[in-house]
Amino acid sequence: MTVLRTERLLLRQWRDEDREPWAALNADPEVMRHFPSTLTREQSDDFVDRHRSLIDARGWGLWAVEVLGVAPFIGFVGLNEPGFDADFTPCVEIGWRLDAAHWGRGYATDGAQAVLAHAFGELGLDEVLSFTVVGNAGSRG
Ligand SMILES: CC(C)(COP(=O)(O)OP(=O)(O)OC[C@H]1O[C@@H](n2cnc3c(N)ncnc32)[C@H](O)[C@@H]1OP(=O)(O)O)[C@@H](O)C(=O)NCCC(=O)NCCS
Repeated sequence: MTVLRTERLLLRQWRDEDREPWAALNADPEVMRHFPSTLTREQSDDFVDRHRSLIDARGWGLWAVEVLGVAPFIGFVGLNEPGFDADFTPCVEIGWRLDAAHWGRGYATDGAQAVLAHAFGELGLDEVLSFTVVGNAGSRG
């Protein structure tokens, strides 16, 4: 599988140790403000299982984000194929979800730049989409 590095970040495969901080992040109403609900521990673990398998199978996906020398896990940045029908699917989307304690430091931007370089370089994609609700200023940024 592919591991992506920036000066500050490691985008890597998910580990079992990520499950607990990932569940805490998904249970935080501030992080999940623009989603229908927070996630239960079971839903959070299902996410890890599904996206770990996808990374194993294809080498790319929603990578777990580590901040080198700062935090072993802060959330994900990566690529995904949405599983719903819309006028823009099938497609590859880029997305992000980080622990609120690590917002405002440019980690999403930093990770996204590495992911896009990989998507248009190594993976040879012609197009990467992203979408969110109008009010999600952090994600739009
Ligand atoms: C979307 C999300 C990942 C954005 O996180 P973020 O930390 O705001 O985004 P960035 O990493 O791009 O950081 C940008 C901020 O860091 C600041 N910053 C500090 N150092 C920086 C650097 N080196 N490079 C870039 N920006 C930097 C910017 O000024 C900006 O601050 P501002 O928000 O006050 O304008 C975060 O809000 C989140 O996880 N939200 C919940 C989940 C979600 O809604 N996901 C999207 C679903 S569609």
